[in-house]
Amino acid sequence: MSEPILSVESLSVSYGRVEAVRDVSFSVPEGGMVALVGANGAGKSSVLAAVSGLMRPGKGTVRLDGRDITRWPAHRRVGAGLVLVPEGRQILGTLTVAENLALGAHRRRAQAVPAGELYELFPVLAERRDLPAGALSGGEQQMLAIARAMISRPRVVLMDEPSMGLAPKMVDEVFGVIDKIRASDVTVVLVEQNARRALRTADTGHVLETGAIAHSGPASELLKDPKVVQAYLGVE
Ligand SMILES: Nc1ncnc2c1ncn2[C@@H]1O[C@H](COP(=O)(O)OP(=O)(O)O)[C@@H](O)[C@H]1O
Ligand SMILES: [Mg+2]
Repeated sequence: MSEPILSVESLSVSYGRVEAVRDVSFSVPEGGMVALVGANGAGKSSVLAAVSGLMRPGKGTVRLDGRDITRWPAHRRVGAGLVLVPEGRQILGTLTVAENLALGAHRRRAQAVPAGELYELFPVLAERRDLPAGALSGGEQQMLAIARAMISRPRVVLMDEPSMGLAPKMVDEVFGVIDKIRASDVTVVLVEQNARRALRTADTGHVLETGAIAHSGPASELLKDPKVVQAYLGVE
């Protein structure tokens, strides 16, 4: 096996005295996709915060291509191709769609995807490129947040709850875009409360429970694991 592109070893993250993530380890092979699922408050976003450099972990190591990046600032990780699509989208509502995308290219300008190519992947954004991003629907804003990450030609994309709050049709579109990203051999770490959908898309899954990994395995097996089904998937 080749070395994983991303690995997280014994990661712990605390807010003051509250330990939100405890001894979490997982890795992703290049071009693979891992789903992190679990209840609200389980620590999923905190894991992504430590991996993307928004938070310093109390313990543990984050590696990109085997290189220890645990102490790198977030912008240096973006420059190396590790990009977060944050929870709640965080687009700049007064800037246009095109301007938001240009900001996404900023840290990796040399490799940036030409806007025309990106608009093919996100046609809804092409039509709205000169509108203020704040005028887009929730689903369109999510597309913009994903497109803003993709324009820097990332190697690893971390996505935090991309389907949250979206209508079913937009959820389908978001997962459709995730499929296309995967098809382009970009490595994906997907955090979702929509556990069933996430596990259907990913190769490997990890279930977080109060900050620690409670179940791990091939996503197809987690989908059949009675304990996981009962606690996180329920009946369809
Ligand atoms: N900024 C913060 N300050 C204090 N506690 C926080 C903060 N953010 C998250 N937490 C706590 O950390 C735990 C994990 O939260 P989070 O990583 O956001 O979980 P998830 O993304 O799985 O919903 C929760 O108990 C949450 O209340
Ligand atoms: Mg979260």
